[in-house]
Amino acid sequence: MSELKDSIVSYYDQVANRYGVQHGTDLYGCTWGIKNYYLPLIERFVPRGSEILEIGCGTGRFTEILKQGAAKIKAIDLSPMMIKVAQERNPGVEFHVGDCEKLEPFRDGEFSAVAAFNTFSYYPNKKRALASIHRVLKKDGIFFDLDMNALNPVYIMSYWMNRNEMKDWFEYIKESTRGNLAAMFDEAGFDVIHQDTLCWIPNALNKPMVSLLIPLDAILSRIPFIREYAMRVVVVARKR
Ligand SMILES: C[S@@+](CC[C@H](N)C(=O)[O-])C[C@H]1O[C@@H](n2cnc3c(N)ncnc32)[C@H](O)[C@@H]1O
Repeated sequence: MSELKDSIVSYYDQVANRYGVQHGTDLYGCTWGIKNYYLPLIERFVPRGSEILEIGCGTGRFTEILKQGAAKIKAIDLSPMMIKVAQERNPGVEFHVGDCEKLEPFRDGEFSAVAAFNTFSYYPNKKRALASIHRVLKKDGIFFDLDMNALNPVYIMSYWMNRNEMKDWFEYIKESTRGNLAAMFDEAGFDVIHQDTLCWIPNALNKPMVSLLIPLDAILSRIPFIREYAMRVVVVARKR
């Protein structure tokens, strides 16, 4: 395994039991983001009855959402400890420890949708990951990718302040912009059917803080030039 992947496993293995609070996926900011931004997108692009693979599932916060209405769902992550937490909170879902650049446990054309939340930006070889995603999808299958937007000033500032969790990681998150992702997906044999940047509310906030920021989110999201710098990027693509 590469040095970056070793550091990913070591970081996420040690943070797994407090990930939901430290990264905010179990806090109100994330719940608000799911309700107001992510869920409407999932419902629009990942039809009920889909056979879903979730890649880089972490502790399974988004597995909980995807599994509602899925005909079948499997999930994979590089960190054994993140998978352990995900399995505990999602009994009945089939989880695998493995590399999303290869997706070895899965058959060609096994899924009608692959979903990724805040994970694709970590993959050093995104071309190889896209080839694997393409392989495990059926024809016309959907790749739904929601991730950090590298243009967001918070990520850029945390890099300059040396606050990001893994120093090598920013090298790869840099690729995570709407235009870059759309071009990469197209080159890998997908038709991009939706792309956007969204949400100015960080996951790790409590309800009073979120309530304060909601009006700001509404204003910033309405100005196209500024919206481009929002916290998340979403690109949805269909296998050709
Ligand atoms: C920021 S966390 C996101 C977890 C989850 N999707 C969420 O949004 O809460 C990034 C996850 O990607 C996983 N990851 C990074 N590189 C990976 C790879 N090459 N293969 C599989 N998982 C990977 C990490 O182990 C980690 O659990």
